[in-house]
Amino acid sequence: MEPLFRRSVGQALIGPSILSANFGNLDKDVRSVLKAGADYIHVDVMDGHFVPNLSMGPAVCAAVRRAAPRAWIDVHLMITNPADFVAPFIAAGANNLTFHIETVAKPAALIRQIQSKGATAGIAMKPQTPWTAIESLLSLANLFLVMSVHPGFSGQKFLRSALPKVRAIRERISDKQRVELDGGVTPQNAQACRRAGCDALVSGSEIFGSKNYARVISALRSG
Ligand code: DX5
Ligand code: ZN
Repeated sequence: MEPLFRRSVGQALIGPSILSANFGNLDKDVRSVLKAGADYIHVDVMDGHFVPNLSMGPAVCAAVRRAAPRAWIDVHLMITNPADFVAPFIAAGANNLTFHIETVAKPAALIRQIQSKGATAGIAMKPQTPWTAIESLLSLANLFLVMSVHPGFSGQKFLRSALPKVRAIRERISDKQRVELDGGVTPQNAQACRRAGCDALVSGSEIFGSKNYARVISALRSG
């Protein structure tokens, strides 16, 4: 399995979630966070069914791709029927597609479907889902997304119960695979996340709510 994306030892990759960006000025916000040191862009897709909110579809992913032709785009599908949207999001420029284990009956087949189309594949878990739900997929997926809030909204409080899950997964996967934490990540809890073995941290409100993106990104990465 090829490395998903490079990182330095002891540091986490930082992916701002554009759910907290200014949708009226998305191009500028995407370019600004990348210039401020972001490693990738996290796109939260919600269907009002799997989660109680609506967000964005492939057209917004395509807009991110146009704004940042070389950026790594990480799409987090919080939707009931992720298989139907693999092709549209890859056509829109997604590099990684993460679906929720709670939504699919045949996750191994969906991982293969995503990878065969040239993207990497991630599996996400809600806070109440044990890591053992993805145990049989540990050698197949490129990325494991542990949710540290209940999916649906930015700006919620970090759930520390996510950390033992990160640890359990990190111990069982290779250096080329990634564990990503998503929800409520702040400069105050980032070190605990990294120590638990997290390689990639998503942050929405902390980054976009700040006046100094670079300072928050660097604190999340290694502060
Ligand atoms: C929640 C999303 C997260 C969220 C993160 O359902 O998956 O990516 O936007 O936002 P913060 O960092 O504000 O919790
Ligand atoms: Zn997300």
